[in-house]
Amino acid sequence: MIKKGIILAGGKGTRMSPLTKAVNKQLLPIHDKPLIFYPLSILMLAGIKDILIIVNQGQLSQYKKIIPDGKNFGIKINYIEQKNPNGLPEAFILGEKFIKNQNVCLILGDNFFYGQNLSKILRNCTKLKNGAKVLLHRVNNPERFGVAKVFGKKIRSIKEKPKKFISDLAITGLYFFDRKVCNYAKKLKPSKRGELEIVDLLNRYLKNKKLSAELIGRGGAWLDTGSIEDFYKTSAFVSAIENRQGFKIACLEEIAFNNKWIDKKQLIRAIKFYGNCSYSDYIKNLFK
Ligand code: DAU
Repeated sequence: MIKKGIILAGGKGTRMSPLTKAVNKQLLPIHDKPLIFYPLSILMLAGIKDILIIVNQGQLSQYKKIIPDGKNFGIKINYIEQKNPNGLPEAFILGEKFIKNQNVCLILGDNFFYGQNLSKILRNCTKLKNGAKVLLHRVNNPERFGVAKVFGKKIRSIKEKPKKFISDLAITGLYFFDRKVCNYAKKLKPSKRGELEIVDLLNRYLKNKKLSAELIGRGGAWLDTGSIEDFYKTSAFVSAIENRQGFKIACLEEIAFNNKWIDKKQLIRAIKFYGNCSYSDYIKNLFK
């Protein structure tokens, strides 16, 4: 069982400037909660309780105001700063001490997942023992993502933002790795754009026939909130689902309560912490 998870929530968010000049992108709202709640909810739904959040320099105190140390969700949260956005695999270099030679899950701080079978898929992925696993989702703009060419369930090849079409299956920002990942990450060389590349890391597993994939089917949604347009689209999606169903997406207290990681007392504390708002009203309804 994978017990450790990393949220990579650094980056300068330059594509969303001036919004991101003073506030990190992952603290900006997706409908009624900060973006960071959504990837955190995914790790919690996967049953992961030991979490490292990597943030960019100077933002730590902001994060701690909203997510201090995880005790309020019955989990453990550590933080570490990334000086510069040197690439996604840097998560495994900065996080080596946290990972402690165990298998680990990585989620990008700007990725949004939603779907009926999601919890089941996530729990299955955490069973990974050897190798690496990626989640794929069909998209109509594959040139914007890392993509995988597959044959049945097997991955044939992967490429970062291919100019020429090779597949419409995007590699989402949720990855599961075995303990070898830190050593592999340390051996990577920066690409032409000066970053360590996640595809190079995944290719290392692919070469050893140790890379597998899981498809998020039609019933699942995956959105990447890379631009302002994407931010608004994702917000509209969350708002539509929440208003229609009355359920909240990524209410962290609800997930923790359902997982039996926290009790009613902690829910009451959460209501006080958030104050008079619809998020608190929702928590109140959890123990009615
Ligand atoms: O969203 C999925 C895609 O994410 C994958 O399909 C691609 O293979 C993968 O490379 C990545 O592509 P992006 O172009 O979206 O990566 P970006 O550089 O925008 O970084 C994604 C998030 O990670 C973003 O919120 C900032 C954060 N980040 C990024 C880098 C490079 C960091 O925290 N530190 C970093 O060093």
